[in-house]
Amino acid sequence: MLINNDTIVKDNDPIIREKSLPVALPLSEEDKQLLREMYQYVHDSTDPELSEKYNLRPAVGISAIQLGIKKQLTAVIVHDVDKDKNDITYEYMLANPRIVSSSVQRAYLEGGEGCLSVKEDHSGYVVRAARVKVKGYDLITDSEITIRARGYLAIVLQHELDHFSGILYYDHIDKDNPTPEIKDALVI
Ligand code: CO
Repeated sequence: MLINNDTIVKDNDPIIREKSLPVALPLSEEDKQLLREMYQYVHDSTDPELSEKYNLRPAVGISAIQLGIKKQLTAVIVHDVDKDKNDITYEYMLANPRIVSSSVQRAYLEGGEGCLSVKEDHSGYVVRAARVKVKGYDLITDSEITIRARGYLAIVLQHELDHFSGILYYDHIDKDNPTPEIKDALVI
């Protein structure tokens, strides 16, 4: 499947609002291939040469509905620093991931979020849980995993899992008060 900025479904296409369905496990070859291609997109999208050459828009994650496929599949590559300030890369190729618990503490990206399916920027805070526990099957490790995510990774996972419900990041922005003061929030 050709995945680039022209083929990715945008928010003017009603399919982006549809719900994605769980996939059968063990994964079919077709679903594995799709996940690998989604991962490859995210991987290549942050390489300046490849993104220019293949018309890729930089991303940290992509979900299958953004390719018009209503399956609960998502690929994520997040670079962050751990608690000792060492660089760390989190990468997943997930099938049927679900949030099993969320923190009361909130978090948001100070600069707002973006999305491959949204051409125009929508400014404002997208307030999410600061920590989430996500369970699902991961093709990279070929196992059922539990991700204890905090901060940026937690935001990215919540953004991608929203796509399974047809929710876009700007749905969370309060238009009347796009940058509210959130008490005790983790600002990223
Ligand atoms: Co998105």
